[in-house]
Amino acid sequence: MSDFSPETMFSELALNMKPSPIRELMPMIKRVGMISFAGGNPDPKIFPIAKFYESSSVLRKNGEEILQYGATDGYEPLKTFIARWMAPRMGRETKPEEMLITSGSQQGMDLLCAALVNPGEYILVEDPTYPGAIHTMRNRGAGFITAPCDKDGMIADKLPGLIEEARSSGKKIKFIYSIVNFQNPAGCTLSTERRKKLLDTARKYDLIIFEDDPYGHLRYEGGHLPTIFSMDTDGRVIYACSFSKILAPGARVAWIVGQKDIIRKMVMVKQGVDLCTSVVAQALVAEYCENGHLDGFLPKIVSHYRGKRDGMAEAFRRYLPKNVEYEVPQGGFFFWLRIPGVDTQKLFLKAVDRGVAFVHGRAFYANGGGDDCLRTCFTFAGADDLQEGARRLRDAIDDAAR
Ligand SMILES: Cc1ncc(COP(=O)(O)O)c(C=O)c1O
Repeated sequence: MSDFSPETMFSELALNMKPSPIRELMPMIKRVGMISFAGGNPDPKIFPIAKFYESSSVLRKNGEEILQYGATDGYEPLKTFIARWMAPRMGRETKPEEMLITSGSQQGMDLLCAALVNPGEYILVEDPTYPGAIHTMRNRGAGFITAPCDKDGMIADKLPGLIEEARSSGKKIKFIYSIVNFQNPAGCTLSTERRKKLLDTARKYDLIIFEDDPYGHLRYEGGHLPTIFSMDTDGRVIYACSFSKILAPGARVAWIVGQKDIIRKMVMVKQGVDLCTSVVAQALVAEYCENGHLDGFLPKIVSHYRGKRDGMAEAFRRYLPKNVEYEVPQGGFFFWLRIPGVDTQKLFLKAVDRGVAFVHGRAFYANGGGDDCLRTCFTFAGADDLQEGARRLRDAIDDAAR
């Protein structure tokens, strides 16, 4: 029997697909003793296992509904909780038809792309941005217009020029994608002034804004900034948040909120993808939240991660060469480092030899760049490992300079 080769069967999408750069690194860094600053993982040591387990009593109470197929737009008690809980951030209680529960924010962005973007159309993204977004958007056939960031987030003043230039070369932009708080990977937060400018620009050029906010609740100092969603009066802002970073990514429960016709189209796409997000997962999360545990847990993780952020900042100050550039983030999961003159893809191999892992900068640039940058995550590694990991990183940088 000859070996069957599916190569000629693959779709163009499958043929052009590249694996996720971060997930590809995982086997290389799964070595005993490796300190990982690579994946954007929460600290498993702080998962609220006992309280989450307690929430499973909802199965006994409500099992006939929970073990059944659920509504595509989400489990009603969870939607009700989120609408109430998020009202201060959103500026109002959003209506049920304005919210869709998704299997992670990752799915939310995929459904949004399916609803809005035709292959060959463009999305305006931050440079650098979250690789999972680049992956999803590319899968849906989108091209990218990239806008630079500084410590106050996407440089909004540059957008009109970028949009006009793209339009004059025949490119159709559908939406602007911004990770507004403690950006992945750059750690920066879009200033209030820039949020307003972004919205004005979207209005002027008739674009949608996708405000992705998985880290917004994890602020370690300063006050929360208003969401762009709360400033929007014409329904052109879609806002996404997730339980992944504030509770447990294994739950795969997130939500996306926006103008009802857009949400309705996303619901239709989701019907063809997975019918509904796991009702079991949604019910456990809803029960956990309704019992007040999320509000109890948030201050704990904020304080825990603040300590880790400070630990990484201290370790970097102590060990990293003086020419390494970075800002200490006010929240979220990440430090973004620039090491002038160092190719961080090559540095990665030296770092792994030394027993520390990070994600090289190129992974975060939709149209190329970031060769001398890298991202480190401070939430996952143990507190002692922050020091040792920084020391190993310094040794790897020294190796690279030799
Ligand atoms: C900016 C950003 N958006 C979305 C996601 C996806 O999160 P989820 O686990 O909710 O799918 C991540 C995950 O790291 C992220 O960093």
